[in-house]
Amino acid sequence: MPDSAFVDRLNEQIAYEFAAHQQYVANAVHYDGETLPRLAAFFYAQAVEERNHAMMMIQYLLDADAPIRIPGIEAPKAAFSGLAEPVRVALDQEKRVSDQIAELARLARDGGDLLSEQFMQWFLKEQVEEVATMSALLTVLERSADRPMDVEEYLAREGRDEAADPTAPPVAGGAL
Ligand SMILES: [Fe+2]
Ligand SMILES: [Fe+2]
Repeated sequence: MPDSAFVDRLNEQIAYEFAAHQQYVANAVHYDGETLPRLAAFFYAQAVEERNHAMMMIQYLLDADAPIRIPGIEAPKAAFSGLAEPVRVALDQEKRVSDQIAELARLARDGGDLLSEQFMQWFLKEQVEEVATMSALLTVLERSADRPMDVEEYLAREGRDEAADPTAPPVAGGAL
């Protein structure tokens, strides 16, 4: 079993991943309410990814026969001013999660826990992608502040295909 410091910290991370899920549902609902279906669809899909991240961590702890605490989480930010704010919130969140994932990888390495260190590698790569995606989306939104349809067209064009990453860790109960 991984050492208890790593297990505690990974349990904490499960809460951050579920919190990211809730935030992205809130973002999606906000954009749906503004009749911006591509932005809404982007965040609905992003929310599922965050839920899957949490379930990957749960599966890892199950496989390691380590204790698992399913967390309660605080309500996400749901009132936004301006078209870009939800994406700004998302970018801040992804940067914060990148630091948290790096800290988890470091904790595993410092503890000489090679399996946990390897488990965290996929998340490090994933964070590079997610920060880059949110950062690009924010740039487009800030450039098109008064032309939201430009952003919708951008997403229709660039919409990334998240289908089947064979290197992704297994998801408890199966990926959604
Ligand atoms: Fe995540
Ligand atoms: Fe993320």
